[in-house]
Amino acid sequence: MKKIGDLIYSKEAEEDATLKEKHTPEIEAPANAKADEAFDVTVVVGRAVPHPNLVEHHIKWIRVFVEEEGRSHNPVHAATYEIGPAYAEPQVTFPLKLRKSSTVYALGYCNLHGMWESSIDIAVE
Ligand SMILES: [Fe+2]
Repeated sequence: MKKIGDLIYSKEAEEDATLKEKHTPEIEAPANAKADEAFDVTVVVGRAVPHPNLVEHHIKWIRVFVEEEGRSHNPVHAATYEIGPAYAEPQVTFPLKLRKSSTVYALGYCNLHGMWESSIDIAVE
C-alpha cells in the first residue's frame, strides 16, 4: 500500500531540489514550556527566501499537529491556516498549550511543489 507520508518532502529534499524557493515550514517556539500554559508558535514558509505568492504558485495552507508523549494515538490536530494567494502571506502565529512533552509538526502545501514538513521537540515541565 502506498502511504501519503512518502509524498511529504522535508529539508533534505530541498537541498537536492533544483527549486529556487524554499518550501520547508519553519517553526518558531520555545524549547521548554509549562503544562497547560499557552505560548506562541509561529510557522512561516520562506522567511529567508520568500516563496512566490501568486495565484499560479503559492502556499495554499499550513497545518500543525502535535505528537504527545505517551498518547495512545498520535498526532493531534492543533491548527489549520488556509491562505488566500497574493493577499495573505504564508505565516501564522497562534497560542498553543501542551500537556506533556511533545513533537510539534508543521506541514505546508505549495500548489505546484507539494507537501513539506518540519518538526521541533518541546519539553513540558
Ligand atoms: Fe512552490
